[in-house]
Amino acid sequence: MPRPAPAQRPLKTLDRVLSKAGAGSRTEARRWIGAGRVAVNGKVIQTPDYWVDLERDQVTLDGRPLKPARRIYLLLYKPKGYLTTYKDPQGRPTVYDLLQDLREWVFPVGRLDRDTSGLLLLTNDAEFAERIANPAFKVPKTYLVKASSHLTDEQLDRLARGVTLSDGPTRPAQVRRLREAGGKTVFEITITEGRNRQVRRMVEAVGSKVLKLVRTGIGPLTIGGLPIGGWRRLTQEERRLLVPAPAAKRRSSKPHPAPRSRKPRPPKTR
Ligand code: URA
Repeated sequence: MPRPAPAQRPLKTLDRVLSKAGAGSRTEARRWIGAGRVAVNGKVIQTPDYWVDLERDQVTLDGRPLKPARRIYLLLYKPKGYLTTYKDPQGRPTVYDLLQDLREWVFPVGRLDRDTSGLLLLTNDAEFAERIANPAFKVPKTYLVKASSHLTDEQLDRLARGVTLSDGPTRPAQVRRLREAGGKTVFEITITEGRNRQVRRMVEAVGSKVLKLVRTGIGPLTIGGLPIGGWRRLTQEERRLLVPAPAAKRRSSKPHPAPRSRKPRPPKTR
């Protein structure tokens, strides 16, 4: 039976405790719990929604205490054609295929469409992910775009001022024309939101289409020398530049309006 969740305690459900400790995804955690491999204070618990007091309870998996997850932060150059989901029912490649040597569980920070390539952060630190992906924090994301037609200055200005999409107007963006190639415009755009297929929809809103989309920057990070499909760990300095305040201060420094709380969860197939 799930225990009631008393207020004022650092409580999490058992499946979350396991996945947060980096032991695996929540689905895997639920399987282990169901199989009787997980105990709380020496007693086998088979209810994934069982409340665990992080300060007092000891959780074991196969009799071994869980180690607190080491925080990891990765930067991956996602190739076109890869999904940011964990598993694809249709068997298409996912970014996890590129991280096979990695032992820790990570999830992608925000989204990149299957046909978009470029920078993708992955971490097991939900608070860090929130600071990057939540539009309330306005972390700039830069994209290189090849449009299917020549875009006039007026069209690029409209993109910069903001266009109205089905889910509302977009924020002002920075737009820079780079070159014209065979009647197509190549430009760079920096946005501070991360709506579903946002850049593609913005370009459609001004009467063109995206032929190629590459995310070349997230805040101060750029694609640098990363090969397509390659990844590396962020340096401490890079993490500090991305999310400056220490964890304790972060909670009180949220901008207004308060960002929606986002649970880390396996990303949807895109
Ligand atoms: N905008 C898009 O249209 N697609 C992405 O993957 C990211 C931003």
